[in-house]
Amino acid sequence: MQPEHIIVHQQAATHVAHIQLNRPQALNALNLQLMTELKTALQTLDADEQVRVIIISGNEKAFAAGADITQMAGKSAIDMYNIDQFSTWDTIKKTKKPLIAAVSGFALGGGCELAMICDMIVASETARFGQPEIKIGVMPGAGGTQRLTRAVGKALAMEMVLTGRFITATEALQAGLINRIAPVELYLEEAVKLASEIAAMSPLAAKMAKEAVLKAFDSSLEEGLHFERKNFYLLFASEDQQEGMQAFIEKRAPAFKGR
Ligand code: CAA
Repeated sequence: MQPEHIIVHQQAATHVAHIQLNRPQALNALNLQLMTELKTALQTLDADEQVRVIIISGNEKAFAAGADITQMAGKSAIDMYNIDQFSTWDTIKKTKKPLIAAVSGFALGGGCELAMICDMIVASETARFGQPEIKIGVMPGAGGTQRLTRAVGKALAMEMVLTGRFITATEALQAGLINRIAPVELYLEEAVKLASEIAAMSPLAAKMAKEAVLKAFDSSLEEGLHFERKNFYLLFASEDQQEGMQAFIEKRAPAFKGR
């Protein structure tokens, strides 16, 4: 069945896939259907050998303005427990391929959290990041207190979570939340450029390197170093390792195949 709230663009030649959130009338608020469609698309693209890097974007006005408040407003705690809307995020988190968020306009609440679950963020000059859940009587529920704090540190995370203040793209860059800023008419192109650069590397090395970097967030240094070393050694089972090193020795560009 065709998804209703996302559009998937795929170009085999570049190995870059692009998922566009598409509920513009609600500033891409993340309702249950959209999140399920996103989860399914990511699972499909993660399993597709032609795809090496995945971009998630919204539109110029909004990446996503958070979880769908109208869908949640009348729910009881038991409804929330049974629906377990954040369980889709556990699957999204398992995406092995690098994920790039291309953010323009609002990235709020679940929208900011979705950008942060991605591995890198390219923002337009108009991007605004915030965790404004406090203003509607709740708090972040999909990683906002954890990933934001790890990215920008306690002081700014506390301020954003407790006051709901939005930060600009420039502040986000200074705080270490995002990778780069581009003019609004170029931010998507910039995200594709970054994705294409990564897609030219060995996809196996990229997946294992991503896994190892993420390990730094939930392990001791010793465990993380051990994990990193195992992945490093494991890559010597790949043809891409032989190709990469041979190409260096022969002073030519490598042609990685993902094997
Ligand atoms: N859920 C549902 N609908 C939303 C929405 C949301 N999170 N955000 C915006 N919309 C809808 C608005 O209701 C409006 O719909 P109608 O035209 O049918 O009235 C439409 O999108 C346009 O929004 P506005 O008219 O409000 O646009 P604006 O430019 O005046 O303001 C805004 C933009 C500041 C982003 C404002 O819409 C806003 O504050 N949105 C809510 C942001 C928010 O609180 N997000 C957190 C949600 S909770 C959460 O995400 C929990 C979690 O951890 C996962």
